[in-house]
This record gives sequence, structure tokens and C-alpha cells, in this order.
Amino acid sequence: MLLTHATLATMSPASGTEGYGLIPDAAVVLEGERIAWAGPMADLPAGYRARPAQDCGHRLVTPGLIDCHTHAVFAGHRAVEFELRLKGASYEEVARAGGGILSTVTATRAASEDALLALALPRVDQLIASGATTIEVKSGYGLTVADELKMLRVARRIGQSRPVTVKTTHLAAHAIPPEFKGRSTAYIDEVALPSLRAAHAEGLVDAVDAFCETIAFTLEDLAPLFAEARALGLPVKLHAEQLTDQGGAAFAARHGALSADHLEYLSPEGIAAMAAAGTVAVILPGAFYTLRESQLPPIAALRAGGVPMAVATDFNPGSSPLASLTLAMNMACTLFRLTPEEALLGTTSHATRALGLTDRGRIAPGLRADLAIWDADHPAELSYRLGATPLHTRIFGGRLDA
Ligand code: NIG
Ligand code: FE
Repeated sequence: MLLTHATLATMSPASGTEGYGLIPDAAVVLEGERIAWAGPMADLPAGYRARPAQDCGHRLVTPGLIDCHTHAVFAGHRAVEFELRLKGASYEEVARAGGGILSTVTATRAASEDALLALALPRVDQLIASGATTIEVKSGYGLTVADELKMLRVARRIGQSRPVTVKTTHLAAHAIPPEFKGRSTAYIDEVALPSLRAAHAEGLVDAVDAFCETIAFTLEDLAPLFAEARALGLPVKLHAEQLTDQGGAAFAARHGALSADHLEYLSPEGIAAMAAAGTVAVILPGAFYTLRESQLPPIAALRAGGVPMAVATDFNPGSSPLASLTLAMNMACTLFRLTPEEALLGTTSHATRALGLTDRGRIAPGLRADLAIWDADHPAELSYRLGATPLHTRIFGGRLDA
């Protein structure tokens, strides 16, 4: 396939002048699942010129977007909890009273694999409609060995049912279920570790995540889990410093984590540790917005420290019922003061790093041909629009998805 007259945001600064890597009148050659060539129309090699062309009409073409943090598999919803919070309850109070994550656990345990898949697909379709071509999906609402495996199987089946690439993350250490109340060590030993080993043996896990927080797990709880992940050759990531500073980001960085996510209460020591380890900061403005958090993540310090920032939806029924990556980008700009260029890097090349991927997230020869074609003429438009997604066409692995 040959795309002509594209306004190309390669996100590959080497081929352009800025982070967007903009090429105003560009062509892209796709061969099979890969990008064979990208550059100015005038430089298109003669050998490619005779191919049947798809004229982009100067529309913006970007890498397909990457949502590197979602909890898109779950049953039920938490609209009532939303209402309770608006009447004055805090997220922690709801969680301590057995609501919150645990109410989604009850609903998810009761649902079959087929039922969970049927619930997840429309959510994934909404993410695809906002430009996503790769999404990460976590477990973490099962909290038994069987139910964590069930969630991860559903996540894998999403990737077989839709053209998106799905990266799966084991998150059994998301919450302590009622049957283990006050016994977090036993939960790690009897559920988190065995479910990780079983899921890994079934080929269901691409990474291991956990929730480090006063209402969830301590670093001491998580040390054996991260050690096991690394023994299995799996990368780790961590929900860190969302509600309080637990030193989670530095702990994750010491374990070579791909990312530390949320980070509103991140300390300067955490930033230094992440910078030294190359750990990506995944910022989740949907959760900040929904929980009406007032503590901002330290964006300026992350920027100054050279920590790459990714932006994701954190799509989940409690803290972030947000199914649009472009709206997440808008929130990252308006609430956190990212530039639109940083927001787009955050859903393309930096998001790939948060998933440990090296074959996508930019437009360059050899990379996977996942592209989004937009009814837009400047990449800042993707972050600027509120609630409308100007997606025109998407290309998954070199195939046009009409
Ligand atoms: O990323 N922080 C913990 N986990 C999710 C929330 C999940 C939920 O509330 O159901 C998050 O915000
Ligand atoms: Fe999350």
C-alpha cells in the first residue's frame, strides 16, 4: 500500500525538526505488516511510485495510538459509588467499606469468561474509535487463582476478536479480598504467586503490576512478587504514589520497572530513581479528574529529570471510566500542563516503552504499520478537541480497517 499527500507526524524526531517529526507533504509505503518507507512526496523512490495510492488529502497521519494502562475487563459498574463520592465519601472510605475495587471483584467473579468478553469488546471498540491500535489490559478483579486466570484469558481473547494488539498484565496484587483481610502475606503466597506461575505457564502474561498503597499492598508484601516476576523473565510495573507517597516508584525502578503509574505523590527521590532506571512515568489524568484529586503529579520535575512520560486512560469502572485516549490527552494538557506534543509522545513512542515494545509507536522503516489517519491538519488538534475524536481511518499491521 502507498499513502500519498499525508501530513505526517512520525514521532521520530530524526526525520523532522521537532518531537512530532512533522513532514508536511509525505508518502508512506507499507509492505505486509511493516512500514517500508516514509518521507517527503518529492523523495519517494521511483520503484514505489507505480503502486496504487491512497490519497490522504493532506490529512494528519500518526502512529496508531497506544493505551498502555487499562483495566478494560470487568463486570458491573460503579455509578452508585460515583454518586456516594459526590455526596462526600472519599475513594478510600468507599474502599474500606467494602465498595470500590471489591464490589467489581464480586461482579467479576460471578461472570463467565464469555460474559466478560462480551462486556469488554464494546469498551475496546470505544478505545479503537479514539485511535488505539495497541492496548494493555490488566487482571486484578478476580483475586483468586481461577478468576485471575479467567480475566487474563479474556484479555488474550480480545486480541483474537479485534485487530488491536493486546498486551496482558497480571495484577493479582490489586486489592486484598475479604477472605484474606489483614493477611496480605498469605494472599501473596496463596493467590498472587500461584496465579502468576499458572498464568505464565499458560502464556497469559506479558508483565506484572501491583497496587502499592495504604489501602492495598506494602513494598514488603510486593518484594517476593517482583522477585518471582523477574525470575520468570517478566517485566514489572507499579501503581505507585496515587494517593500517598509509599516510595513505590523508587522500589519499582530498583526492580528495573518498565513504568510507574499515577504518581501524584511522587517524591524527588522517586523521580531520580526512575530517571536512573529508565522507568516511564505513566500519568493517568482520568483517575485524577474522576477522584477530584488536587495533588498534581510533578510534571515539571519529571520533565527536568528527563523521565519519559506516557499518557493512558486507566479505563476502569471506579476511578476512571474513560474510554477515549484523545480525551486522556486533552486532560493531560489541561489538567497537568503537558504540551500537545508531549501528550502525543505519551500515547505513541513513550507508551511503547511503558509496554516494553520496540516495534511500533513511531513511523519509520521496519516498524509495524499501525497508523491512524485523522480529519485534522495539525497534531495539536488531537489534544485540543474535547469529546470529539477526529479519527478518519485506521490501519492495523498494514491492513486498512474501514
Ligand atoms: O488504576 N489504583 C488502583 N487501581 C485502579 C482503580 C481500580 C478501581 O477503582 O476499580 C486505578 O485507578
Ligand atoms: Fe490502574
